Amino acid sequence: MGMKITRPQGTEDVTPKQIYKWHTVERMVRETAESFGFHETRIPTFESTDLFLRSVGETTDVVQKEMYTVKAKETEFTLRPEGTSGTIRSMLQNGMLNDALPQKVYYILSCFRHERPQAGRLREFHQFGVEMAGSTGPVSDAEIISLAKAILDRAGLKNIVLHINSIGCPTCRAAYHQALRAYFAPHQETLCETCQTRLEKNPMRILDCKSPVCGEIAKDAPLILDYLCEECKEHFEKLQSYLTAMGIEFTINPKIVRGLDYYTKTVFEFITTDIGAQGTVCGGGRYDGLIAQMGGKPTPAMGFAMGLERLLLTMERQGCEFEQPKTCDLYIAPMEERAIPLTMKLGQMLRISGYQVEYDLMSRGIKAQMKYANKIGASFVLVLGETELENGTANLKNMQTGEQTEIALDDTFEEKFDDIAIQGMFHDIVNDFEKECKQ
Ligand code: HAM
Repeated sequence: MGMKITRPQGTEDVTPKQIYKWHTVERMVRETAESFGFHETRIPTFESTDLFLRSVGETTDVVQKEMYTVKAKETEFTLRPEGTSGTIRSMLQNGMLNDALPQKVYYILSCFRHERPQAGRLREFHQFGVEMAGSTGPVSDAEIISLAKAILDRAGLKNIVLHINSIGCPTCRAAYHQALRAYFAPHQETLCETCQTRLEKNPMRILDCKSPVCGEIAKDAPLILDYLCEECKEHFEKLQSYLTAMGIEFTINPKIVRGLDYYTKTVFEFITTDIGAQGTVCGGGRYDGLIAQMGGKPTPAMGFAMGLERLLLTMERQGCEFEQPKTCDLYIAPMEERAIPLTMKLGQMLRISGYQVEYDLMSRGIKAQMKYANKIGASFVLVLGETELENGTANLKNMQTGEQTEIALDDTFEEKFDDIAIQGMFHDIVNDFEKECKQ
């Protein structure tokens, strides 16, 4: 007796009944990204662990606590915890940065982080993300933010606020780090173990620690905005003016530092209170140093990622509309054995022409077949019975109106089953069927 195996904690199934919602969201993000001239890219699910150490950063929670690292034979890999690292690796490896800039790509992918599961926080989740490499100016920051905003608007979402911040460049960061060290030094003993090591290496990470103790201590920490250099300040101000020009409302939130190490200057998040504590639907920012750090020639870049589970959950909570799944166009009901070959041939042709066609696979009687056709929401039912075959006609029933039409069949179909001439007959049926469908 086998015990039932259940899915791992923090993972989700999407059943065929729910998949249409995912399809709606995926179509929407693709179309919006493409309207901005972004093109899809696909990257591996796992990468060398070093990639994430170098990009996401050794002192981040993601690297220190959440990575799914596997050893296959003698080599170590890590399941991607996010999409930016692999995407930039791929841009470099494929020489994409030697092409016309900016390079603009988007992706839809699964990510893996070993976090404590809760509503909106999974161990396997999905991101839609975009990355743009090559442009320095705040126009591109506004472009990226407006892309995210366009998606949320298109989904019909309300009640999502945009928080922006600037975390400066390496120049202003040095002074800020010093101020943070001075601030946290008296609290060193009380900080969590991880943050104690962060104090020296990367004190900004303490601001993002999930431990409530560290959160409490960090409450009155100095703010990066007070330490920005002239260039970063101007960049941030221009971004704000562009957002205002586009009518995109925002709040300056100096506490947003993001959980990954590669950011410089602009960072932003779209946050909702409608789905509980894990309300950050989208997060992103500029990362001007990452590409050089990964061995490319210095190239500024910027991007974001949306958690698709969170996006979907918010859409559900707010009663947004989803495109209904396509249902059966035609159900063919053979009333007897003799009608089965024609049923199958007809079904095959119509399916190749792009119709959704089903027929009996359960050897049901005609009554049960009609019931099933109704249940699956078939638009039309074509009944093929003895009399129909002999008369060279078939009965097409419009399931919505109940109206029935006789459709002509070529009465020589049986002998000519493999003959090209029979195609004409099928074409007539297809034509009639198309006409009916269009009404
Ligand atoms: P992130 O903030 O770590 O950024 O993740 C982006 C989004 O993924 C979050 O805002 C959230 O919606 C979703 N997310 C993250 N962790 C989970 C989880 N455990 N369960 C469910 N959803 C989650 C990045 O990953 C960056 N790569 C974004 C970026 C792209 N920055 C520049 N380019």
